[in-house]
Amino acid sequence: MQLHEVLELVQLRRLELDPVQRVLNGVVHADDFRSVARRRLPRAVFDYVDGGADGEVTLAANRQAWSRRRLHPRLLRDVSVTDLAGSVFGQPFLLPIGLAPTGYTRMMHPTGEVSAALAAKAAGVPYTLSTVGTTTIEEVAATGHPNLWFQLYITSAAPGGGRRQSDPLIERAAAAGYRALEVTIDTAVTGRRLRDARNGLNIPPQLSLGTLADIARRPRYWTRMLRSPAIQFANLTSLSDAEAASAGSTHVGGLFDDSINWSHIEAVRARWQGPLLLKGPIGADDARRALDLGVNGFHLSNHGGRQLDRCVATADLVAPLRAAVGPAVPIVVDSGVHCGGDVAVALALGADMAFVGRAYVYAVAAAGERGVTHLLSLLAAELQSVMQLCGVTTLAQLRENGPALLGE
Ligand SMILES: Cc1cc2nc3c(=O)[nH]c(=O)nc-3n(C[C@H](O)[C@H](O)[C@H](O)COP(=O)(O)O)c2cc1C
Repeated sequence: MQLHEVLELVQLRRLELDPVQRVLNGVVHADDFRSVARRRLPRAVFDYVDGGADGEVTLAANRQAWSRRRLHPRLLRDVSVTDLAGSVFGQPFLLPIGLAPTGYTRMMHPTGEVSAALAAKAAGVPYTLSTVGTTTIEEVAATGHPNLWFQLYITSAAPGGGRRQSDPLIERAAAAGYRALEVTIDTAVTGRRLRDARNGLNIPPQLSLGTLADIARRPRYWTRMLRSPAIQFANLTSLSDAEAASAGSTHVGGLFDDSINWSHIEAVRARWQGPLLLKGPIGADDARRALDLGVNGFHLSNHGGRQLDRCVATADLVAPLRAAVGPAVPIVVDSGVHCGGDVAVALALGADMAFVGRAYVYAVAAAGERGVTHLLSLLAAELQSVMQLCGVTTLAQLRENGPALLGE
């Protein structure tokens, strides 16, 4: 065969001049963003995101628990028209997917939380800002996203009984128009993240021999970081340098209140008028107690395996929680969700939405806002395809037929 004949057969792909688009062209699944992030981020930063607590047993169990579920499809249903929209707490969403709270997001990309919130806004899904976010409550609100959630860590009591660092955040979130507040309750103390300890992680990364070697390997990351404002807890502004340094090392030190108990939830309930969720690996008894205190919904999560290692996988908690609280109480779930099939299983088990953590953080690291937009479009396409192949066309049908689809 002649060369010109070969060239006729092979359609040469047009050279992509936009470097971000070039990256996105190679990303056909959330896991591809992880590979890009691994290449782009300093090792300690990548491991901070990627790692879990102790032996990372729960980190692995989360993924297995979603993927071991099998779907038995309904056949010969007309699936030509689908609708992935729904609502929770009266707020509409275009996709049953949300972005979970993650700390230090600006360490991945200078636009950090804002890029994730803008992409979530465009896709019509909620974005949750973390207490230990690196962008202020008000700056994220300025994106104009109509469905922002705020995640609250109860920080340690101030000496002498003064206000906690976290106290004013409730009023600030309300004033800025956040729709829902979720209190994370699995973090009385921080999980032991061995990768961070081995890497000697410092946040923000400080100059050491190791960092200098890393700069040589990843100049683009470091140039971007050095040009952007310093990374800090944007909302806990009264944190002293020593406290911030302790919070930024492998243990969050005294930042969180390890005496957190039901009275703290009552106190938050008294001060926050909007929808209130608890975020953690919640069981039936705790859920009933929470509802009695006026909690409105649950964010089932084991922190992506970053807290209690050997914690039960969240996929195994959805159906029992749904049975305990009935059909009307909103349940969202995260930990290990990384494709549309996981989202479909979450809804079939009884959740209203599935949230992603690492998946979107890798997308931020790879391509900022455009990365998260691309990720959400991939997840939407995957979910739509799974639903069509299962013979369901709406989220309500997926929920209703969930037990049959799962063969339960
Ligand atoms: C880098 C990183 C930072 C996180 N920071 C917080 C946080 O500040 N508050 C919180 O409630 N959860 C935090 N989480 C947990 C996420 O909200 C979410 O529960 C978890 O990432 C879901 O698991 P997945 O990463 O497997 O999707 C963090 C997770 C990651 C990966």
